[in-house]
Amino acid sequence: MDLRRVPARDQDVASDPVLLATIRAEIERSGPLTFDRFMEIALYDPARGYYRGAATRPGRAGDFLTAPEAHPLFGRTLARFALAVHASIGAPASFTIREHGAGTGALAAALVAELLAAPDGPAAIRYLVAEVEPARVDAVRAALNDLDGASVEPDDGDPIDGLIVANEVLDALPTHRIVQRGASLREILVGLGPDGGLVDVEAEPTTPALEARLAAESVVLADGQRAEICLALDTWIDGAAAGLRRGVLLLIDYGHPAADLYDSGRRAAGTLATYLGHQVGDDPYRAIGRQDLTAHVDITAVERATARAGLIPIGSTTQSDFLSRLGAGDLLVAEQTRAGATLQSYLDARAALVRMIDPGAMGRFRVLAVSRRLEADVALPGFGGG
Ligand SMILES: C[S@@+](CC[C@H](N)C(=O)[O-])C[C@H]1O[C@@H](n2cnc3c(N)ncnc32)[C@H](O)[C@@H]1O
Repeated sequence: MDLRRVPARDQDVASDPVLLATIRAEIERSGPLTFDRFMEIALYDPARGYYRGAATRPGRAGDFLTAPEAHPLFGRTLARFALAVHASIGAPASFTIREHGAGTGALAAALVAELLAAPDGPAAIRYLVAEVEPARVDAVRAALNDLDGASVEPDDGDPIDGLIVANEVLDALPTHRIVQRGASLREILVGLGPDGGLVDVEAEPTTPALEARLAAESVVLADGQRAEICLALDTWIDGAAAGLRRGVLLLIDYGHPAADLYDSGRRAAGTLATYLGHQVGDDPYRAIGRQDLTAHVDITAVERATARAGLIPIGSTTQSDFLSRLGAGDLLVAEQTRAGATLQSYLDARAALVRMIDPGAMGRFRVLAVSRRLEADVALPGFGGG
């Protein structure tokens, strides 16, 4: 999503009353919730969570704009990387792509159309949608509807030979929150205030895994520093890696190496942010179920988890660098002569590409690729090596 902070208009959006009642009841029953449990309910409650149901979340009509939603140029540029992955697993006639968190299908539509049109591309594409929200499978199916050679299936988790991609999924995983108090690490839980509203409650960490993560990364927080730790990331990477028999896992997200993410000078308040109507906020206890919650990704933790899962690093860079190396600029020039192009459509494409590569916006996202059992002689572009 575009991370430039827009001064928050006062948007008086009430919390979903049923979700709020669920959270309150759980606190009354079992005591304060870990923040990741709160986030799980707010975003993923099967009946009413923010990401559940048919409502459009990313997109111009939604709350934030992701790169695939900004313009098909993103998916078309990624197709150049995907073509090389296809070659690197022996160029099968039918190529399998699994997308985690496929959203509205915007990435799928551009990526698959470009791959099927490539003279040296696959004849057919099997697109597996791994989503918490089952309705997204229909959205992706509709997005690929008119493409001969493309088939869309809900993901069955079976290991694939192919490409696995996840754009802005890790930053949507439920996360714990912590604060350093003197020599002690404290966890920030979600409790009930005197008026029944949700409030931060500091307590002993609910799991030693929080301190263990920081210790493994040699991170020392400053007194008073707040931060997020996404323990769910390990399980997610294990699952994604188990689903890759041969090919590449490509992850794109807003994140930083641990030393940078937990730098007390730059991020003393942590990175938790809310998105509602294209505005960024910092109060997770308002508009529950109606605003997005997100925290920057610990790239060091991702790298460690992929290594533990036996995946081989291909490269790690910024989105700006990745798209530039893949030739997004040439693809923008080609927009001028695309069937049906107008001056306005070209200007829109150019503006979208600028946001995707602007270091002040999406350009500083991290792109990380890891692989399993690739052909030795195929170089993958996008990271400086190919
Ligand atoms: C920020 S949106 C990004 C959507 C899309 N990738 C894009 O770039 O426009 C995050 C998406 O990830 C999905 N998601 C979150 N956790 C997931 C998980 N554990 N497995 C699969 N999808 C997940 C959400 O349902 C949502 O569609």
